[in-house]
This record gives sequence, structure tokens and C-alpha cells, in this order.
Amino acid sequence: MKFGYFDDTNKEYVITSPKTPLPWINYLGSENFFSLISNTCGGYSFYKDAKLLRLTRYRYNNVPLDSNGHYYYIKDGDTIWNPGWMPSKTELDAYSCRHGMGYSVFKGTKNKLTAELTSFVPVGETCEVGKLSLTNESNETRNFSVFSYVEFCLWNAMDDMTNFQRNFSTGEVEIHGSALYHKTEYRERRNHYAVYAVNAPIAGFDTDRDSFLGAYGENSAPEVVVNGTSKNSVASGWAPIGSHHLEVSLAPGETKTYVFVLGYVENPVEEKWVGRAEDGVINRKRADELLSRFDTAEKADAALVKLKDYWNELLSHFTISSSEEKLDRMVNIWHQYQCMVTFNMSRSASYFESGIGRGMGFRDSCQDLLGFVHLIPDRARERILDIAATQFEDGSAYHQYQPLTKKGNSDIGSGFNDDPLWLIAGTAAYIKETGDYSILDEMTPYDSDASKATTFMEHLRRSFHYTMEHLGPHNLPLIGRADWNDCLNLNCFSTEPGESFQTFGPSEGPNAESVFIAGMFVRYGKDYAAICRHQGMTEEAELAEKAIAEMEKTVMDAGWDGEWYLRAYDHYKNKIGSKECEDGKIFIEPQGFCVMAEIGLEEGCCLKAMESVEKYLDTKYGIVLLQPPYHRYHVELGEISSYPPGYKENAGIFCHNNPWISIAETVIGRGNRAWQVYTRTCPAYIEDISEIHRTEPYVYSQMIAGKDAPNFGEAKNSWLTGTAAWTFLNVSQFILGIRPDYDGLTVDPCIPSKLDGFTAKRDFRGVSYHITVKNPNHVEKGVLSMIVDGQPVEGTTIPFSAEKKDVNVEVTMG
Ligand code: BGC
Ligand code: NOJ
Repeated sequence: MKFGYFDDTNKEYVITSPKTPLPWINYLGSENFFSLISNTCGGYSFYKDAKLLRLTRYRYNNVPLDSNGHYYYIKDGDTIWNPGWMPSKTELDAYSCRHGMGYSVFKGTKNKLTAELTSFVPVGETCEVGKLSLTNESNETRNFSVFSYVEFCLWNAMDDMTNFQRNFSTGEVEIHGSALYHKTEYRERRNHYAVYAVNAPIAGFDTDRDSFLGAYGENSAPEVVVNGTSKNSVASGWAPIGSHHLEVSLAPGETKTYVFVLGYVENPVEEKWVGRAEDGVINRKRADELLSRFDTAEKADAALVKLKDYWNELLSHFTISSSEEKLDRMVNIWHQYQCMVTFNMSRSASYFESGIGRGMGFRDSCQDLLGFVHLIPDRARERILDIAATQFEDGSAYHQYQPLTKKGNSDIGSGFNDDPLWLIAGTAAYIKETGDYSILDEMTPYDSDASKATTFMEHLRRSFHYTMEHLGPHNLPLIGRADWNDCLNLNCFSTEPGESFQTFGPSEGPNAESVFIAGMFVRYGKDYAAICRHQGMTEEAELAEKAIAEMEKTVMDAGWDGEWYLRAYDHYKNKIGSKECEDGKIFIEPQGFCVMAEIGLEEGCCLKAMESVEKYLDTKYGIVLLQPPYHRYHVELGEISSYPPGYKENAGIFCHNNPWISIAETVIGRGNRAWQVYTRTCPAYIEDISEIHRTEPYVYSQMIAGKDAPNFGEAKNSWLTGTAAWTFLNVSQFILGIRPDYDGLTVDPCIPSKLDGFTAKRDFRGVSYHITVKNPNHVEKGVLSMIVDGQPVEGTTIPFSAEKKDVNVEVTMG
């Protein structure tokens, strides 16, 4: 069952019922100001950091679901309704929500009155624009009221939710015409404020929530809206809000448009006190400038066109055309869009991540780069250096950092031993895409301390050596607190039954080892060695190559279980992910990574491991993380077995590592199977089961409940997941096979044999490659010939040259 449809021409998903199984959201904003917005207008805004600079308030785990947002009420006689249905939930005569690239359009009709709200964050601005058009579809003149409503957050979202003894007395606002200013703490600790304005005279306003809603009131029927008159309340403490009252009169057929702006304004430090009296009156100069940029419908329309142009340009760098409509839709639009969102958000703010608990992840953001780097390489470069600057001097890393301060998060700390290697992965992707080796010379701090800076190349060296220097009893990499699998905490013990686990300290080991990190070490170690060679660091390259070869041997000796790769050894040297185990006999992660690293390829282990994945881990909705699930809690394994069977890391379908298997299948040339794995979790291919899947059908979710769970097939944690980058990497670079490499662009497809081929346009280092792939013999892999601008080229890589701006490539498979 579906709740909407894809509109590929407009690059939109059109939702046709407000009652989707879960809120289906979109992200507005591309750089600094962001809003989350659901298909019923729920959500909130923040500037840069969802924890520290939150503009509007959101309530989590709310009942009813998703019941705070940026709302517009229409009071037409006795009927109160909202263009996005919530929060009044008045049945609409017509409803649609179009989620597009950085904008959302809500259209509601009630009693022949239509309201169309277009919400977006203009490119380069720090505000959300809400363009509201009202049309009288009847034959009579209509007089009605519109009330806007946003509830301000007192900036620090964590403090806002907890520190009431203080916060009930700090709220302050200012009102100037149609502009309502939220300036809590401006008199002392802040030089920023929020403004919420409309480009028309207002009949009244409210800035105090309880006045607006009424005593014990709720936003489904605010007292002010029910009565049809604003109270002109001025918030002092308690809960500041912004609400405008517009009186509207429309002749038959007439449309009127209003532009609302919710802005974040920061007075630069040098201007901090200019024009600001000691009583905290705002210096409004910058707000006036901001509002003047959107004070007519034409200006708002022009900004929307600019936003669409921005996205059309971004998405023009990689486009394909094939006989598979859903493939084209995902590659040309939604994969790349989700990659941009994960790059911006890391794992901080979604409808499953509060924006408070987690900032930017070291591991997560490095992986996000893999799918983002071709979109805006300069931003990728900056991100890589930001991440590296949080690294410790020994090469290990803070697991997360706060986007506003860019400093490591000491609450979470470090100890995830895969982290350092992801930095090599992200950097290699950047260099392959851009050919820019100058990043390696950048002086880059450790632990955000500029006095401890070295070149970035030295950061990479320490990353690689961190693994080399932290090997365990079998010479496999020590896992530390966990590797990619956050919940596999193998250095745990408890002294008393029922007691929560503790971890072994440095003196007791900790001994647990990871075959997954070994796979990463081999795969990304090859990139490290290649980069060293390019930099003339021959000795270091040789040292790395030797360490990689040793690691491959170690995996074959101590990490192969006969039919698949082992997952790990725990602190007591017990095997994890082995046929000898009672539960958790086989895990997905090492199968993906060891095959991607081609460990044991010649010995036939790669094929064997892939067959085992298919045999033991496959389900109709995707590949589960492990089998059999852990049926009881094992303290020595950590968090993994605290999940009921089938959820999350305990045998859920973790979408993130499904593409690892798909890529691994392309390594051994099985295009049909790679395709099957790709399509099984691919949003466009499973749109028809939205009632089972439940999350948005245009983006990936982190997890789908596995076959051992009662809700098999139900997804959770949509949007912010490494799945975004990995699936785009998989389909673009390994299935379609268009892969940037150090010396040029490789075209080496591994496709389902049913495909006749495809065409693609790929911009690469300023050159546009127009690629035609033909598959006359319906093979799965193999390039018979490659013709570049009429000339045959040996192998599958087009050597890079900046001479021509357009290059025609014809690849014949066979
Ligand atoms: C989740 C993981 C997540 C981790 C983040 C765990 O509870 O299961 O998926 O990566 O928390 O800290
Ligand atoms: C989600 C986390 O964001 C990611 O870093 C981790 O690898 C996976 N969960 C698996 O535990």
C-alpha cells in the first residue's frame, strides 16, 4: 500500500494522505540554518547545532505524535483548520504534501478555501520562509482569519527541557510592527536572537504561549484562534511564542499571498554592544536587512527558484538513464539528496535522533563523505580537516564532536578502534574524486589544540599505525569499546548476576579482537599505501604493504571459520560469529569487509562467504546482521544481546551493511545477486509496502526489523544512517561501476544480466564524461572494449586529462 507517489519531473515525493504510518519528514536548509518538517507541518528549526542553538521547541515521544511545529490556523466561521492537517486534525476536502529538494509544499482545501504553504530555507540565508497563498474557490466573498504559531526554544535544547527553575524566568521578547523578536538571554550571554515576521500589517499578535493557548489549552484548538482575536500578549518568562493574526478578505477566485520569515540573527562580536542598550533592547539592523530580502511574494518566489537551481546544478554532476525507472529515480535524485542530508546532520537531528544526544560522529561523518564528496568537494575537504582536528595524538579519536564548537565530546570519549581507519577511507574518497593532494599538507591540530598541530598526512600515518600498534593475542586488531558495531562490546564482565556490565581496564587486557577491523585495515591500508607512494614516502608505503600482507595472512589463519569469516574474539579469546557458537554463529560485517578487501579471494573464501550470507542471513526484506539472534543476554558481549531478537544489531536488517554485501558481490562478479541485494532495501523498490515498512519511501532507514522480530519488515530510524552514503557508493561505483580513482575515472559495471546497458553523465575534476554502456551479451560483469572519444583504451580506467571539457566514452560489456 502507498500513501503517495514519486514525481520525478519535479524531483518530489507527493504524499496524498496526512495519515502516513509515521511522520514523513523533509529537511530544509543546506548549510547553517536547518528545519525538520513533517508531512503535517511538524518539526523545528536550529542554527548549525541542534543542541546548542535551537530556535523552536519540539517535544519528543509526544502524544499525539508529532504535535509541535510551525503552524498556520485558518479560522473560517466556526471551522478551524490547518493546511497540513495538524494540529487541529480537521478533515480536509483535499490534501497534499510535496517534499522536494530542500522545500516542502502543503496544500489543503476546506469549504472551497485553499491554502498552499511553501516552506524552504533560501540558499545562503539563516531563515525559513513560509509562503502562504490563500485562494477563494467559491462564488462568494470570504472573510476569515489566519493565525501563525511557532513556539520558541530557549536556545540550548537540553537546558530548555530540564532547567525549568531558571528558564521559566528568562524568556523575553520585543514586538515591532509585524515582527516578533525572541531575545531570551540577549541581555547577557548571547549576541543572537530570533525573529518571526510577516510582510503585511497584522490585526494582533501573541508572544506568550499560555495566553495564546488558554489555561490548560492545547495547540489543536488555541483559545485565541477559537475566539478569533489575538490578545497582544507580551511574554515575560514562561514560554515565548510567535503568533500573528491576519484578517483576510478574498473575492471569488481571488488569491492573496503572505510571506512569513522565521530568522536567526547574530550580531558579530564587534557589533555586540552597538545599539544595544543595557536593558537588552535588540540591535535590529541585521534582522531588518534579512526581512527586507523576503518582503514580497516575488522575492520569495525568486529565492525558491534559486534553491531549485542550486539543487538542479548539484544533481547534474551525476545522472543516469536506464530501462529501470526506479533505479534512475534513486540515483538521479533521492540517493544523492539523502547523502547531502546525512553529510549536514551526521547523526544529530531526525525524528529518531533528538539533536541533543549525539553531535557529529567521527566514524559516521567519515562514511558520509563517501557519498557526498562529488557534490561539493570543498565542503568535504573542510569536513575532513574538522574531523581530523578532534583526533588524539596517538591516532585514536573522540567518537563524536559538537558541530558548533567543533570540539570532541568528552562525555562519549574514545576507544572505538575502527574510528581512525575511517579517516583514511574518507580522505581516499576525497583525493580520488578531486586529485587534490594538497590537503595532506594542511597543518591540523590534535584534540582541537592548535599548538599540537602536524600535517594532515601525519594524522593519516597515526591512524594507520594506531591499528598496527593495537593488535591482540591472535595478531588481529584490538576492538576496544566496539568497532563499527557499537553494540558489540567484547571487553565486558559483571561480578554479580544481574549487575550491569563493566569493562576491563588497561591492566587486564582488554583483549577482544575484531576481524572486521582487520578487513578495514587491509582495504583502506591499500589506499594509505597508495597515498604514501604518491607523496614519495616509499619506505612507509612498503611498511604498510607488508603490514597489510601480514594481516591478510592473519585473517586466513585466525579469522576464517571454514564457511565464512569469523566476527571477533572476546576478551577470553572465545570465538564470536563461529559455527561453534550457540547463537550469533555468522555476522554480516566481516563477510562484507573481508570480501571487499579481497582477503582469501584466490582461495575461494570470498565466494564461499557470499554463499553463506545468502544461505544463512537472507530474508525477503534484506540481509540480517547475524544469525541466529542472541536469545538471552550475554554480559560478555555487551549491548548487542540486550535487544530482543530481530531488532537493531541483534539480527535486525541493518541497512548500512547490506550494500557492503552488494559491493562484495561485484568484487566476485555476481551482478544479479548484487542487484537483488540492492533492490531489496531500496526505497523506490519497496514503496508498495509502505504500510509494512512505515518510514518514508523516498529515503533509507537505519534498520528494518529482521525475521526473528514480531514486526518483520518494519523500518525505524529513517534518514540519518550510513546507508545513504554506502548505497549510493554501491550503486554508482560498483553496480554501475563508474568509479573515481587516483589516476582517472574507471568504468567497470557489474549489473544484472537483464539490463541492456545504460547511459550516464559523470562530472569528474571539471570534465564531463558522457558514458554509454552496452550489454549486448547480457553478462553480469566484464568489459570487452572501451572507446574514449573514438580511441580504444586498454583496461577500464580513462586516464585523467583536463584538456577536453567533454569526453565520450563507450563501454561494451562481454
Ligand atoms: C544503537 C546503535 C547506535 C549506538 C550509538 C546503540 O544503542 O543500537 O545503533 O550506534 O547506540 O551510541
Ligand atoms: C549507528 C551508528 O551511528 C554507527 O556509527 C554504527 O556503526 C551503527 N549504528 C552500528 O552499530
